[in-house]
Amino acid sequence: MRVLVTSALPYVNNIPHLGNLIPVLSADVFARFKRLKGEETLYICGTDEHGTATETVAMREGMTPQEVCDKYYKIHKESYEWLNISFDHFGRTSRPYQHKITQHIFLKLYENGYIFERELEQTYCPSCERFLADRYIEGECPHCGYEHARGDQCENCGKVYDSKDLINAKCSICGERPIIKKTQHLFLDLPQFEECLLDFIEERKSVWSNNAVNFSIAWIKEGLEPRCITRDLEWGVHVPLPGWEHKVFYVWFDACIGYISITQEYCHETHTDWEEWWKDPDNVLLYQFMGKDNIPFHTVIFPATLMGTRERYTLLNQISVNEYITYEGGAFSKSRGIGVFCDDVMSSGLPPDVWRYYLYINRPEKQDSDFYWEDLQEKTNTELVGNLGNFVYRTLSFAHRYLDGHIAEQELNEQDRIFLQDIAQQIDSAEQALEACELKTALKTIMVICRMGNQYFQEHEPWKQKDTREKTVYVCANVVAKLAILLEPYIPQTSQTMWNQLNLSQPRVWNLARTLPVSHTTIEAPELLFTPIEDEFILKMKAKYGGKTVELKQPIPYEHFEKLDLRVGEIVKAESHPNADKLVVLTVNIGQPVTVVAGIKQWYDPSDLVGKKVVLLANLEPITLRGVKSNGMILAAQDSSGVSLLSPDKPVAPGSKVL
Ligand code: 2FM
Ligand code: ZN
Repeated sequence: MRVLVTSALPYVNNIPHLGNLIPVLSADVFARFKRLKGEETLYICGTDEHGTATETVAMREGMTPQEVCDKYYKIHKESYEWLNISFDHFGRTSRPYQHKITQHIFLKLYENGYIFERELEQTYCPSCERFLADRYIEGECPHCGYEHARGDQCENCGKVYDSKDLINAKCSICGERPIIKKTQHLFLDLPQFEECLLDFIEERKSVWSNNAVNFSIAWIKEGLEPRCITRDLEWGVHVPLPGWEHKVFYVWFDACIGYISITQEYCHETHTDWEEWWKDPDNVLLYQFMGKDNIPFHTVIFPATLMGTRERYTLLNQISVNEYITYEGGAFSKSRGIGVFCDDVMSSGLPPDVWRYYLYINRPEKQDSDFYWEDLQEKTNTELVGNLGNFVYRTLSFAHRYLDGHIAEQELNEQDRIFLQDIAQQIDSAEQALEACELKTALKTIMVICRMGNQYFQEHEPWKQKDTREKTVYVCANVVAKLAILLEPYIPQTSQTMWNQLNLSQPRVWNLARTLPVSHTTIEAPELLFTPIEDEFILKMKAKYGGKTVELKQPIPYEHFEKLDLRVGEIVKAESHPNADKLVVLTVNIGQPVTVVAGIKQWYDPSDLVGKKVVLLANLEPITLRGVKSNGMILAAQDSSGVSLLSPDKPVAPGSKVL
C-alpha cells in the first residue's frame, strides 16, 4: 500500500499562528514515520487561495488578489521550511492544474445529474459592484437593535437572522447602502449521496476518531441540504458553462480538489503519474490531517464530490482531527498583537525542534490545549534538557572520555535482557500509537524510554563500577540509537545530531527490534543537544506578545525554608482511601507513626508502597480529606509522564532530618 498524506490547505491571507501549525506538524510526523518504515509515502499540502477573504485583503492592502496570494504564499512556505516540514510538494490552489481539474470534476458532476440551478436573492453593493458575503454587511440587529451587528448573527444578543433583515444595512467595505438583487447559482445535490456516504463512513468507522465519526453521521442524519457551489466573484476558478463565465466556484468547492491538483503539479515535475495516487483506491491509503472545523468538508462534501464523478478516485481512509490551541488562555490576534505567529517563532532565537517538541507534547489531541510561555520553558528544561539531552550527553561523553570513544559489543546478563525487552515493549506501544495517529501519546512513550535509559545509567554507576562500565555504555548507546530513530519524526534535526554523535553513517530506518551496530563506531566529544530557557527570556517574550504574569519562582527568605520540618520516613502501611478513587492512606514511620493521605493512587499500587523510604513534610497543618485526617505531605516529582516519589539514595534512618 502507498501512503498519501495531506494536511488541510491553510488560507493564504494571513500569517499562521501556533494553532494553525498543528495539522501541518501532525501530518509531518506521520509522513516521516511512514517513510522511516520504508512505505512509499507522499505528503501534499499548499495554500488555499480563493474566496472572498482573499479579495477583501487585496482591497484593504491595495493589491490584486494575485499579489496578496504571492506575498502570503511566500510567508507560509518559508515558515514551514524553517520548521522542517517534509512536504513532498507545497503548492497553491491558484495554479492552472487546479482550474483544470476543478472544472473537469464539476463537468462530470453536471453530466451525471448532481448539479442544479436556482435563483437566489442576495445583498449587492452598487458602488463596489459586487455581491456581499454576509460578513461584509453591517447594520442594526433586527432583534436587539445593536448598531454594529454583522453578517448573520448578532454579537450582542447572539440571535441568528438573515443578513438581508439587518436594519439600515451598509456595505462594510465602502459604507454605501446595499440593495437586494436576484442572481443565479449552481447547487451540488448532496441529498442524492446520503446512502453512499453512510456506507462510506460505516466502512471506515473503526479507524476514524470518535469525533469524526459522530460528527459526520450526525451531520448526514440531520438531513443533507443541497450546497451552493458558486459565487459572484472574479477571483477563483470560473464556472465552465456557457452563460456562467462571470461566476466562480465557492472556495470550499475547489479547496479539497487542491490536494489532487498539487499532486498533479508534483508528478509533472517529477515525471511520475498522479493517477497512481488519486485513481488507485485499492493500493493507496489516504490520511488527512486537519482542525475540527474542517471535518464535514472532508468526510461528507469532498467524498460526495468525488463519488459523483463516477471516476473511482482515492477516498479518505484515515482522518486525524485536532482540537484547538489557545494562547495564554485566550485567543490569538495578529491585529491586537496577541499570540505567537510564525514570524515570531522564526525570530524567537529558539531552535525549530524546541517549538516542534512543545507543540507535539502539547498537541490538542483529544481536547483543547493552551500555549503558555512558562510551560514551554518548563517542558524544554525538564524534558529536552533534563531528560533527553542529559541522557545522550552523559552516555556519549562517558564513552569518549573513559573508553576512548570505543563501544564494544558485550555479553548481556538476564537483567540487561529484561531491560531491553521492556524498552522493546515501549517501542511497540509507541509504534501502535503512531499508526493510530495518536502522536502525543507516542511521543510521551518515547520520552519514557529516554527516562528508562537515564535510570539504567544511574543505577549502573559506570563512573564507579569499572568492571561493568563498558557494558553499561554499550546498552545505553544502543538506546540512544533507538531514540534517534524514534524521535526523527518529531525533532528531525536533533535526531540527525544524535546520529552524527554516534558516528553512524547508515540511513535511519524503523528497524528497532534488533540491536543497532553501535559497536563499530568511535564517539567524539559530544555537544549538548539543548540549552535551558532562562527566566529572562520568558519575561521578555511575554512582555512582547502578551501573557499573564504568573508569579515566577520568586525568591523566598532562607528563614521561610527553615520552617519546613522535612523528615525521612518509611511507609509501613498503605491502603486505598475508603471514599476516594485517587487517594491512598499511608502510615509513615518517622520515629513515630504519622497518617498521611496522598493523591498518588493513579501512579502507585498501595501494596508496592510498603517499605519505601520517602520524604515527609511533617509540620504541615493537618487537613481532613474525605473523612480521613492527613498529618503531613510526602514529596514527589511530577512531569508529563506521571509522578515519582522522592527517596534518599542511601539507607537513612527513619526520622532523619532532610536539609
Ligand atoms: O480551514 C482552513 O484553513 C481551510 N483553508 C482548509 C482547507 S482544507 C482543504 F480543503 F483544502
Ligand atoms: Zn460597498
